[in-house]
Amino acid sequence: MRPDAKATQRVYRKRARRYELIHHIGTRFRDTTWRQEVAWLSAIESGARVLDLCTGTGLSAIEYLKVWEVKGIRDLRIVGVDHNNEMLAVGKENLAHLGLADRIELVFGDAMDMKRGQREESYVSFEDSSFDAVLSMCGVGEIEEPTLAFKEMLRVVKPGGRVVVIDVHEPVKGLTSFYTVQRWFWQTIVVPNILRRFWGAGDPSGMIYEIAETTFTDENNRQWAFETLVQVVRTDSWWLSLPINTIGIFCGKKIEQSLHSNRIGV
Ligand SMILES: C[S@@+](CC[C@H](N)C(=O)[O-])C[C@H]1O[C@@H](n2cnc3c(N)ncnc32)[C@H](O)[C@@H]1O
Repeated sequence: MRPDAKATQRVYRKRARRYELIHHIGTRFRDTTWRQEVAWLSAIESGARVLDLCTGTGLSAIEYLKVWEVKGIRDLRIVGVDHNNEMLAVGKENLAHLGLADRIELVFGDAMDMKRGQREESYVSFEDSSFDAVLSMCGVGEIEEPTLAFKEMLRVVKPGGRVVVIDVHEPVKGLTSFYTVQRWFWQTIVVPNILRRFWGAGDPSGMIYEIAETTFTDENNRQWAFETLVQVVRTDSWWLSLPINTIGIFCGKKIEQSLHSNRIGV
């Protein structure tokens, strides 16, 4: 089931102010840990330029920054991109309030086309290989054509840089306690009512597998792909189980793929 772009835009326009609270409650406050996990996987160094795709109110970027500060990673340039003006406006207010406006920049753009700014002024535009890492937390399930966004992530990250995505995942037989109940709950409540009706989103379960297959050919006819470093489905204990107890995580490194032989790492 694909996300309905018009519905997601409406939802986020209406709920921008309450988004963070709703997200915390919906995930039973586990989302903060998920955001921090993305930062741990980014493997960036001081001075890096980082893209937070589908940044919403920039909450993830704030959590990433906390992890990087703990690790002693400094002098970062963090850019958050989203196509919802209301979410960005709330995010800018929050950043100003926290004194982080000069460290995290929030800009309007389309995850599926990060060259759109070359044709339409209001959108942002990024060069190939212009970020040290591209991160997205609970964003891929909302993108109308996620495969276009995966290509863009691969395009804008530097060779050797990492792309990390994290989103909710369907329960997995053999890993999930009370699988039959969880499965029923996922199919009848979570996907149609929470993801689709409440957020306008699709089922993101397949994303961590689809992104791993992404390739991109640049202007010099060089072909790029991901070396998969992490592809994990993680399930919480049964007492933390409903409404959502499973997440999927992908972390890949951009490598050059030879057209004639096996992959060559960068
Ligand atoms: C569930 S929110 C996640 C926000 C944030 N990453 C977080 O951790 O709280 C999903 C966001 O994706 C954005 N989004 C969906 N499709 C997009 C697209 N094509 N381009 C940019 N942003 C998009 C929505 O506007 C929304 O703010």
